[in-house]
Amino acid sequence: MFREPGSIKQQYMNYEEFKERVRSENDIVDVVGRYVDLKKTGANYRGLCPFHNEKTPSFFVMQDGQFYYCHGCHRSGDVFKFICEYNHLDFPDAVKELAESAGMDIPEKFDYGGGGKSNAGLKNRLREMYKTSAEFYYGELYKESGSEALEYLKKRGLKKNTLVAFGLGYAPKSGTALYDYLKSKDYSDADLKESGLFSYKTGKPRDIFTNRVMFPIMNSSSKVIAFGGRVLDDRQPKYINSPETPIYSKKNNLFGIHRTRNANKERIILVEGYMDVISMHQAGYPETVASLGTALTAQQADIIKRFSRKVYLIYDTDSAGTQAMRRAIPILKSAGCFVNVVSMKPFKDPDEMIKSEGADGVEARINSADNAMFFEIECIASEYDRKDPSENAEFEMKVAEMISELNDKFQRESFIASISERFNIDKETLTAEVNRLGNEKTTGRGLIKATVSPSERKEYRRPQDKKKDEDLGYPDERNVLLALVKNPEIFNSVKEYVSVDDFSEGLIREIAGYLFDKLNNGSNIQAGEVLSRFDNDDQNDVGRIFCNDMYDNSDDETKNTFAAESLKNMLIRRHDEKCENAPPELLAQLIKEKKELSDITINIDQD
Ligand code: UTP
Ligand code: MN
Repeated sequence: MFREPGSIKQQYMNYEEFKERVRSENDIVDVVGRYVDLKKTGANYRGLCPFHNEKTPSFFVMQDGQFYYCHGCHRSGDVFKFICEYNHLDFPDAVKELAESAGMDIPEKFDYGGGGKSNAGLKNRLREMYKTSAEFYYGELYKESGSEALEYLKKRGLKKNTLVAFGLGYAPKSGTALYDYLKSKDYSDADLKESGLFSYKTGKPRDIFTNRVMFPIMNSSSKVIAFGGRVLDDRQPKYINSPETPIYSKKNNLFGIHRTRNANKERIILVEGYMDVISMHQAGYPETVASLGTALTAQQADIIKRFSRKVYLIYDTDSAGTQAMRRAIPILKSAGCFVNVVSMKPFKDPDEMIKSEGADGVEARINSADNAMFFEIECIASEYDRKDPSENAEFEMKVAEMISELNDKFQRESFIASISERFNIDKETLTAEVNRLGNEKTTGRGLIKATVSPSERKEYRRPQDKKKDEDLGYPDERNVLLALVKNPEIFNSVKEYVSVDDFSEGLIREIAGYLFDKLNNGSNIQAGEVLSRFDNDDQNDVGRIFCNDMYDNSDDETKNTFAAESLKNMLIRRHDEKCENAPPELLAQLIKEKKELSDITINIDQD
């Protein structure tokens, strides 16, 4: 393995890059082998599980995938998790230990915990300081000098318990009120400087927030990590926000997230501003968050998706809001969300709408929300003069392209039907164009027909394997994921038949989403890295799907058969599910399709 000479200081863009480098420098078989007596059996290594008592080895370490899995206690993880669990370390300490044992230089700018305690200490002190500051601002709101601010918030319709729930406060007019307060609490000048709450332009420290209503920004565990402050009139800038600090990274947080814990997880509502979140929560929609005044980031989309994949966008109806929404939609879609757009017209934003239509107005408008695709097409339509034949043709081409990008045939058909009607496009023409684009994409797919013998079919089917596992979906879809992660070269064939949405909701779909994303981007995948994207407990389940010693020790032909069979089983099962819910008039068509499905032969060519 290539190793950077220890004397040369390596530059890393960020912690993630450093961590991945540490991973690549620590082969899991070497690392686990220091603690567990491993024997190579076939493609994988095997030993007595260090996490539970056993006499026969059921602990597997996969060198190809760089992960471990125990068939006895179902623990699974990557090299970092192994070190965390074996040595009872937290994650940064495990990274640090592995970096050191691989002889890597450890950049100082990252927080590793452990030996890097000084930075961990700084973070703790900053958290403490932000908490103290929030308490200070909160207190100021209810003093005589804060009466104007309190009046302002009341005038905007906020109730007392909303003010408390969001910890709203007031930054006094004096330019040093917070500074003096924190000094009196013995915070050091160095820490005050790190907090970003003060400006040093004039040499002397000044509070950055003066005479503003204060909105504490909290993380999901309700810790204050930043502030936004609003003027009481219409001066500019309307809001200022505290800067990024060791405890606050804007792209990883959502305003309102701390209040979503007990919210209904069937959907999540995304709005633009502080005030929108607060009035939505007050109106009974605690599933509302905002992206902190910047364009939505992929990281925020991931947090959103973990909460719920069904997203409703409620952005301001001005052109800035429309633009922001157009940028947010593809980011949410690629995170694997189902995106809908809620209109607030004729009002400017949810805050105004609620004042006029009341809390129930929101629900009514959510119920008549539109799939984001319609909104996107409306935006595109507004860029063309559809009375001009050539402009109109270009518009229709763009629409066909968008529809042809949908992976699911049923979705394509239903969008063709509704879009042709709504946007006055000839349905036959649109269908033909979508099909033409679809065919263009799939020509040269190189599928060689092969049949699968019944004996081969049985090979991988364990007795309990037919039904759905509560959290882990169906065996067919688990097996498709297994085959994908081990042999990513089959992805082009797989994605012709199924899309992420075809996988069962929950962990299965999350894994599929991650794999499809990576593979669509042409990135490499490795089971251990995929595993590490999930929470500790979920990793055990992911490991259970990915650990299949029999697969690893099969020849290519058997693997092909396995992948093709799993895919086909999945298609047929999905089809059966559709039949169950289909209206009677569609049934005949669906039954015919099922017959066709059973007749197709899939061969996944791994070459
Ligand atoms: P809006 O101007 O729509 O704010 O900006 P709002 O929350 O609806 O506020 P009200 O109702 O006018 O009081 C949306 C978000 O953009 C960020 C803030 O996060 C704001 O909530 N923003 C806006 C800033 O950071 N600075 C600004 O000057 C304006
Ligand atoms: Mn607004």
